[in-house]
Amino acid sequence: MKITPLTSHTGADISGVDLTNLSEAEFAAIYAAWLDHGVIRMRGQKLDVNQLQAFSARFGPLEEMPGYSRLPEALRDRLDSRFVTVISNIKEDGRPIGGLGNAEASWHSDMTYNPTPPTASVLYSVEIPPQGGDTYFVNQHAAFQAMPTDLRARVETISIKHDASHTSIGELRAGYSEPASPVEAPGAVHPAVITHPESGRKALFLGRRDWAYVVGLSLEESERLLDEVWSYAAPGHLVWRHIWEIGDVIVWDNRTVLHRRDEFDDRHRRLMRRCQVLARAAA
Ligand code: SIN
Repeated sequence: MKITPLTSHTGADISGVDLTNLSEAEFAAIYAAWLDHGVIRMRGQKLDVNQLQAFSARFGPLEEMPGYSRLPEALRDRLDSRFVTVISNIKEDGRPIGGLGNAEASWHSDMTYNPTPPTASVLYSVEIPPQGGDTYFVNQHAAFQAMPTDLRARVETISIKHDASHTSIGELRAGYSEPASPVEAPGAVHPAVITHPESGRKALFLGRRDWAYVVGLSLEESERLLDEVWSYAAPGHLVWRHIWEIGDVIVWDNRTVLHRRDEFDDRHRRLMRRCQVLARAAA
């Protein structure tokens, strides 16, 4: 196994591994690289749904796909796994087979509108368009450290409500109605700065800009403060761009890395499978 950092701040390539057949020692090295680099990439993998699920479950208990409990029985029966979400623009019989379509997805962490958001997100590419649909990552430890001292001190005292009613492409999520304003939007409240439970390092924890709300402020004050904080969240020099190849497995630390995705031409197919990992219960 070889671990090669991709930038000085975010991402590492791990080569010489078969994710269907990892020893305990190999997985321990992969896990340590994920913590150190925020994002890891393993190329040239061939995983069926069960193998992707089994690899992902080595990081911790898996989260059910969003909205699983609301799916009609007939749709549940058609799923290969309730832990593997499809991200795709493909339609079958006129119906999307997955989420996010071909649209741009703005900077976000996954499912932070939940009280216990995923710790790791695992994304595997099955089909990719000839261009577009690249995914970008930005390190939130470094973004926090780069903020002016007074703003850093302020942001450590605030909590943000992470909107549950919209997706990262700005669409209303199934089962929700349009909130009157971010103040009324449903969603979990999290501190704007978290201390990583394993590394002990502080990171910004912003979720998504749209529909966010700083608890306790007026809407105007909240919008102003969020705009200021977000202006430090994704500076170009801290962003790593990933251009997909078929068979890539990317795992990011959903607590300390934001990601976004480019749009792509809807005439081409893009099919990704994703698993999300929850924190292990305390021993
Ligand atoms: C996501 O935002 O979770 C999906 C990213 C992608 O489709 O590359």
